[in-house]
Amino acid sequence: MDAKIDDKLLAAALAARENAYAPYSKFTVGAAVLADDGRIFTGCNVENASYGLTCCAERNAIFAAVSSGARSFKALCVVADTDAPVAPCGACRQVLAEFPFEKIILANCRGQVKITTADELLPYGFGADALTKNK
Ligand code: THU
Repeated sequence: MDAKIDDKLLAAALAARENAYAPYSKFTVGAAVLADDGRIFTGCNVENASYGLTCCAERNAIFAAVSSGARSFKALCVVADTDAPVAPCGACRQVLAEFPFEKIILANCRGQVKITTADELLPYGFGADALTKNK
């Protein structure tokens, strides 16, 4: 995948971050997903007065993509205003592991980027293979 696509995804994630609804934490996050068919879907974090109902940017982007029929993906980019490229939360790592992403791009608002994979983010994670013996 060429660097121009990474730049496009980062720009989409930064734009989505502008829509973040984070009145409680004030920590705004944006994410963008590139589907195999070339479509890009975005998400931002959406908080709630009942804090536990908050949904992260990564999950909102993935759920938007899946809701539009995408099932396999080339990349996901997530960005926040952190010192180092932002580290996805554990729940998002589990959701990322559900889908075949070729690469995951962690970024911050200073343009620092770390390229990683779902396996690297969630080693020894729970997966569908564990459910097969119940079929
Ligand atoms: N957040 C994300 O959107 N993605 C992450 O991977 C980490 C955390 C959001 C959730 C909450 O709205 C705020 O950041 C602070 O935790």
